[in-house]
Amino acid sequence: MYDPYLLVKCFSLIPKKAIFAENNIIMEFKRNIIITGGAGFIGSHVVRLFVNKYPEYHIINLDKLTYAGNLANLKDVEDKPNYTFVRADICDFDKMCELMTQYRVDGVIHLAAESHVDRSIKDPFTFAQTNVMGTLSLLQAAKLYWESLPEGYEGKRFYHISTDEVYGALKLTNPEGVESPFTTKASSDHHHAYGKDFFTEDKKYQPHSPYSASKASSDHFVRAFHDTYGMPTIVTNCSNNYGPYQFPEKLIPLFINNIRHRKPLPVYGKGENVRDWLYVEDHARAIDLIFHKGNVADTYNIGGFNEWKNIDIIKVVIKTVDRLLGRPEGADEDLITHVTDRLGHDARYAIDSRKLQKELGWEPSLQFEEGIERTVKWYLDHQDWMDNVTSGDYMKYYDDMYKNR
Ligand code: NAD
Ligand code: TYD
Repeated sequence: MYDPYLLVKCFSLIPKKAIFAENNIIMEFKRNIIITGGAGFIGSHVVRLFVNKYPEYHIINLDKLTYAGNLANLKDVEDKPNYTFVRADICDFDKMCELMTQYRVDGVIHLAAESHVDRSIKDPFTFAQTNVMGTLSLLQAAKLYWESLPEGYEGKRFYHISTDEVYGALKLTNPEGVESPFTTKASSDHHHAYGKDFFTEDKKYQPHSPYSASKASSDHFVRAFHDTYGMPTIVTNCSNNYGPYQFPEKLIPLFINNIRHRKPLPVYGKGENVRDWLYVEDHARAIDLIFHKGNVADTYNIGGFNEWKNIDIIKVVIKTVDRLLGRPEGADEDLITHVTDRLGHDARYAIDSRKLQKELGWEPSLQFEEGIERTVKWYLDHQDWMDNVTSGDYMKYYDDMYKNR
């Protein structure tokens, strides 16, 4: 599949003139940006932000539409003139080469990935294939296309979205929580840190799960393409996101839906693992800022200094759902069911995002309480979205729709 002769084939199929030919769709835009994984949770927020904020950019949403991709996430932008959806697999190297040329891509924002730790424990191969080989395929396609242009890498950007999980796990040296030394807008009444150590950009990579190992590997490939070929790359590592359109296999949407239907809430182990939570639109804002203003070859950590033990955040979610559904607050705590812990469950993630705040002026816009309120309300108000996703109907729909393309 990665035979170097394919490269020659790939470009010889397209007459050189065609690469620079006038094309109505492509020529009228100031930039042509591929966003991979745009039908997923975070990707859909990034696509929406870019399509609405930059009508002068052509945004090409490249997504395979796995179980996690859902075009219903982008209904509000699908008819915009600067938006195009392409169903493709990032592992399909020939196709990636073709798309780079067809759309004269000058920017890539790469979010497509297998993203769920539990699935990676069951099926690590798919994670290596998509996250490592898929990223490599996309990198190589961008490299070949950009190197074929007279201006080369000038004005180009390959921005890879990664996770805090590549840094491994931190210790809960302060299980009761301590006042964080940082100021944050993420939360008004929750400034606790559960340990003194944080993930800074120079922290050694120590991934533990097959998911984080595959993301770490892809991060290394992206940096290697800068160091070896001079490709203008950027990597960011973000903490756990929450908000609308997240697939309900992840903690927050799964639990909101289960509480609504009075189903058990499977808490892994004692529920004492700590995660650092950021509202998804704040991540999208950071991606926008870094894509435009970040330094090439640099790394930025993105997070809100907003650490929560799982059991505490679960109780906040229960109270919020109960209140919004008119049930007595906390009544649904009886649904909490402690189940066997996740294998290799990382104890604590905590991002130090001061570099991003200091250098580019980004900080979270939302108080955590407001973010959770918005999130719970969104899922309760969009039961049709949830039913569609949990029934798998949308998968059948897309398979029929795209079967012959
Ligand atoms: P998601 O699982 O919701 O979406 C992933 C998207 O990628 C889906 O639309 C899927 O169809 C698409 N995809 C998967 N394999 C593909 C392939 N081979 N070719 C093309 N498209 C493919 O994921 P998410 O939570 O939105 O995460 C997006 C990115 O952000 C991932 O790279 C993830 O590692 C990273 N990240 C996520 C979080 C988080 O809390 N969710 C935090 C930090 C970083
Ligand atoms: P998750 O949303 O899967 O994100 P990640 O594993 O990438 O952090 O899980 C968040 C935390 O919630 C994690 O510590 C595992 C825990 N968890 C449960 O206790 N029960 C569940 O059913 C799920 C999905 C997660």
